Amino acid sequence: MEVITALQNRVSCALLTEPGPSAEQLEILLKAAVRAPDHAMLKPWRFLLIEGAAREKMGELLAKAVLADKPDSDAAALKKIRRKPLRAPTILVVIAKIKEHPKVPAIEQIITVGAAANNLVTAAFSLGIGAYWRTGSAAYNNVVKTGLGLVPSEEIIGFIYLGTPQVKFKPAPQVEVGELLERWS
Ligand SMILES: Cc1cc2nc3c(=O)[nH]c(=O)nc-3n(C[C@H](O)[C@H](O)[C@H](O)COP(=O)(O)O)c2cc1C
Repeated sequence: MEVITALQNRVSCALLTEPGPSAEQLEILLKAAVRAPDHAMLKPWRFLLIEGAAREKMGELLAKAVLADKPDSDAAALKKIRRKPLRAPTILVVIAKIKEHPKVPAIEQIITVGAAANNLVTAAFSLGIGAYWRTGSAAYNNVVKTGLGLVPSEEIIGFIYLGTPQVKFKPAPQVEVGELLERWS
């Protein structure tokens, strides 16, 4: 797929099934991710791969986080939470590693990792791999962050769910961009 076609037409896909991306495809996606613009070349990213039974462990972690906040959560709600990571065969957790830097504030490092995540989902789309970028309260929850091995200077930018689309990609909405452009003089 042409780069411009992928950029203009990328859509998410929530209905994902096996197989997840192969090792070779994951390498392609990560190589696209790490070409994001990166002030001072800090490489402020890392990626966790969660597949197979590790998704069940992640479900337990999500449930533990909810129980820590709401100890009286009912069993049905917890069951639903435990199943969330099973929505795709593969999850990539995109993490920003934020450092003190004299010229690159934290916001720029987070933007860089957001751009990396965007490169990743757009590259996935161009290869026909379904992707869905999620955060939700779990991304900002300390039980989840610690359980996944993050240190306090790190942030979760996204849980990128990846897999084989169960349905055709929906058409991207066509946006009239002319009115977004204002001339300043
Ligand atoms: C940082 C970030 C976090 C997101 N978190 C969620 C989320 O938790 N749940 C969700 O349904 N969509 C989330 N989205 C939005 C979806 O990934 C998706 O972009 C949106 O549903 C629009 O669909 P489209 O990508 O097909 O245009 C998030 C997007 C971004 C950039």
